[in-house]
Amino acid sequence: MRLSRFFMPIMKESPAEAQIVSHKLMLRTGMIRQSAAGIYTWLPLGFRVLQKVSQIVREEQNRAGAIELLMPTLQQADLWRESGRYDDYGLEMLRIKDRHERDLLYGPTNEELITDVFRTFVRSYKDLPKTLYHIQWKFRDEIRPRFGVMRGREFLMKDAYSFDVDEAGARASYNRMFIAYLNTFARMGLKAVPMKADTGPIGGDMSHEFIILADTGESQVFCDSALTDMGAPGLDVDFDADLQPLVDARTALYAATEEKHDPAAFAAQVPPERQLSARGIEVGHIFYFGEKYSAPMKAMITGSDGKERPAQMGSYGVGVSRLLGAIIEAHHDELGIKWPEAVAPFDVAIVNLRPGDSKVDAACEQAYAQLRAMGRDPLYDDTSERPGAKFATMEVIGIPFVLVIGPKGLEAGLVELRERATGAKHELSLEAALNRLAPTGPQVAA
Ligand SMILES: Nc1ncnc2c1ncn2[C@@H]1O[C@H](COP(=O)(O)OP(=O)(O)O)[C@@H](O)[C@H]1O
Ligand SMILES: [Mg+2]
Repeated sequence: MRLSRFFMPIMKESPAEAQIVSHKLMLRTGMIRQSAAGIYTWLPLGFRVLQKVSQIVREEQNRAGAIELLMPTLQQADLWRESGRYDDYGLEMLRIKDRHERDLLYGPTNEELITDVFRTFVRSYKDLPKTLYHIQWKFRDEIRPRFGVMRGREFLMKDAYSFDVDEAGARASYNRMFIAYLNTFARMGLKAVPMKADTGPIGGDMSHEFIILADTGESQVFCDSALTDMGAPGLDVDFDADLQPLVDARTALYAATEEKHDPAAFAAQVPPERQLSARGIEVGHIFYFGEKYSAPMKAMITGSDGKERPAQMGSYGVGVSRLLGAIIEAHHDELGIKWPEAVAPFDVAIVNLRPGDSKVDAACEQAYAQLRAMGRDPLYDDTSERPGAKFATMEVIGIPFVLVIGPKGLEAGLVELRERATGAKHELSLEAALNRLAPTGPQVAA
């Protein structure tokens, strides 16, 4: 993308209405614009990051064997009457009437809809297990939308739903999502800690929230600090194998959200120097709920014994739009955002220090063409802004690598490569710089 043709409305001042750094930076860099309370337009820069985050979520869902579909945002109230949730859900549900006076709602979640799809097409244990997911907008009429995309009213969620014939199968499906989530967040440069969460009436141990530790988090959490040093399982995990040992290794140490916190157990199980009590951002939530929807909605499976029983279900959410806020909370400095490469709106920038100088223009054009040919996503600043302002822009929007090309350097056969994460600057030939910028495949942070 040539900056002269792009649409990137950056603000000079930090907006006063934002309370936390990620919200400030998203407004200031022109990633989002509030349209109504908790409802945002995704401007081009923000939309690019949203797409990159969505794509990582999608790739890791697919790797774990989940299958993508797309359900609508508007749903019929009648389905929710079957599960009993139409009346229970309360004021967070946005209720709508169509011209025929039929009750609709803007989906806050999709258990009912997916259960209806499933019961229509699947009858036999031979078709199981199945995990279906979509990445779709949700609406929850939050009483206090705040912190920008962190707690919106309209927000993008990945929600997956697993169907199994028995509890052992459901546990295997749960474990696949548990492992996929750790890899997903690690690919975005996030350390997510799985924490025991409330299971409601069903009880048991199959509910975890994935938490990013951050002072601005809305939840109070408690864990063994050793958990924060544990790496992700890795992209070479065999999802057909028994994943229980990998899950056990990550659930053996104490980690609980406020609702599940047990101060006596915390004190007994965690050495004092590792007792971490912190604020956290919930970026994902996985939950086994058995027959809660399949029984009332009659999503029945015939087992190998010929008997019918309700399918065993679980649901698995990722706050896709919230993740942008969480990533910025984890990766910024006083100059602005420091995007991890995998989610950066552009992964490299080219700064032309003297537009109009034919040698400099030619070198920039060559770099721009080559970077695109090698699969990079470059932003080429071809404008006549002064250099200081150009650098400040690339810093605030957080581009991981900046290639600086000017007349003096070219005279000596050199360009400068700047790394946003470390602040390092390297002088080298254009060819060497381009070699360094050869893309690597997907990676989980160490
Ligand atoms: N109002 C919201 N704004 C942005 N993201 C949200 C919001 N509510 C939930 N999410 C994201 O969606 C994920 C799944 O939602 P869920 O667990 O059903 O929500 P909750 O914990 O609020 O009941 C959460 O882990 C969170 O990351
Ligand atoms: Mg939750």
